[in-house]
Amino acid sequence: MKALILSGGKGTRLRPITHTGAKQLVPVANKPILFYAIENIVAAGITDIGIIVGDTHKEIRAAVGDGSAFGAKVTYIQQEAPLGLAHAVKISEEFMAGDSFVMFLGDNLIKDGITKLVNQFRDSGVNSQILLAHVPNPTSFGVAEVKGDRIVRLVEKPKVPPSDLALVGVYMFDNNIFKAVNAIKPSARGELEITDAIQYLIDEKYDVASFIIEGWWKDTGKLEDMLEANRMMLDSVKPCVAGTVDRDTEIDGRVVVGKGTVVTGSRLRGPAIIGENCVIKDSYIGPYSSVNNGCKVINSEVEHSIILEHSEISIGARLEDSLIGKNVKISESDIKPKAYRFMVGDNSEVSII
Ligand code: DAU
Repeated sequence: MKALILSGGKGTRLRPITHTGAKQLVPVANKPILFYAIENIVAAGITDIGIIVGDTHKEIRAAVGDGSAFGAKVTYIQQEAPLGLAHAVKISEEFMAGDSFVMFLGDNLIKDGITKLVNQFRDSGVNSQILLAHVPNPTSFGVAEVKGDRIVRLVEKPKVPPSDLALVGVYMFDNNIFKAVNAIKPSARGELEITDAIQYLIDEKYDVASFIIEGWWKDTGKLEDMLEANRMMLDSVKPCVAGTVDRDTEIDGRVVVGKGTVVTGSRLRGPAIIGENCVIKDSYIGPYSSVNNGCKVINSEVEHSIILEHSEISIGARLEDSLIGKNVKISESDIKPKAYRFMVGDNSEVSII
C-alpha cells in the first residue's frame, strides 16, 4: 500500500500567515501539521509516500526532503494548479502503479493516527473506505447522506446539509478510484471533487465502506482550528527542559524548553512548548502556548497562542488567543506621543485594548 498527501492548494483562510508560506507547514506544538500526517502514515506501516505540491513546493521539499528523516521514501508530484482533490488523485496514477493507497489531506490532523483504519481497510477488501465525523458546521465540509450503515450520497459543502456527518480528510482507495477520477467532470466551482469520484464508485456498485470516527480530528483551515489543534497536541506533550532556566524562574506542569533557550525571572505554566535558542525574560508563558525557535519574549505574558520562528514580543501586557507569524516584532515603545504604531500586512487582524 502507498500513501498520497495533498499539500498543494492556496491556504486563503490562514492569510496573512500563508502569504509567505505553505499552510501545511504552519506548526502545531512547534511541529508542522504536515509532519503529523507523515508520521501517522509511517506508523501505519506505509513508507512509499507521494506528496502533491503546488506553488509552495520549494518550501515543502526543503522541510520534508527525501523522507528519510521520517523513515519514508517521498516522491513529489507537482500539480499545476489546485484543480481539486480528485485532480490530485488523477495525476498520481503513475506513482500508484496499481497499488491501493491512503490519501491524507496535508492540513488535517487526527489525534489517534490512522493505523487501525488502514488495517481495517486492508483486512476488509473493500474498494474504498471513507471516514466520517459528526460536526456542528457541516456546510464547511463534504457531507454524507447515510441509510443504515450505507452511504447513499455525498455532497461537497452543501447549503442544506443532508446530515451532520462530514468527510474527514483521510480516504482509502484501491485502483478503481482512477476510473472514477477519469470519468467525472469539474464541479460548478471548477474543481474535480473527490466527493463526486466517491459518488461514482457508489453509483457503479463498488464497495465503499464508511466509519464514523469518535476521536479528535481537525481540518486546520482557520485560526480557531489552529489554536484548538495546538491545545490538543500540547495536551500530550512530554516535559523536557534542555535549555537553561535560572533560579528565579518557576515551572508548573508539563513544559518543554528547547536547547540553547535561556529563561530568566519568568513563570512557565504548562502544557507549553518553547523551542530552541529563545530568550524568555521577566515573562509568563501560560498554558497552550507554543513559542517557536529563536523567539524573544521579554516582560510580557503569553497564553493560548502560537508564535512562529524569530519573533519578538515585548509588550508589558498579555497576548492571548493569537497566531503570530515569523520574524514579527511587537514591542512597547517609549517614543512620545504615546501611540499604537503598526506595520501590518494585508489580511491581518489586530485587536487592541
Ligand atoms: O478537511 C476535510 C474536508 O477537506 C472534506 O470534508 C471535504 O470534502 C474536502 O473537499 C476538503 O475540503 P477543504 O475545503 O478543507 O479542502 P482544501 O481546499 O482545504 O484542501 C485540502 C488539502 O488538499 C489542503 O492541504 C490543500 C490540498 N489541495 C487542495 C486542492 C483543492 C491540493 O493539494 N490540491 C488541490 O487541488
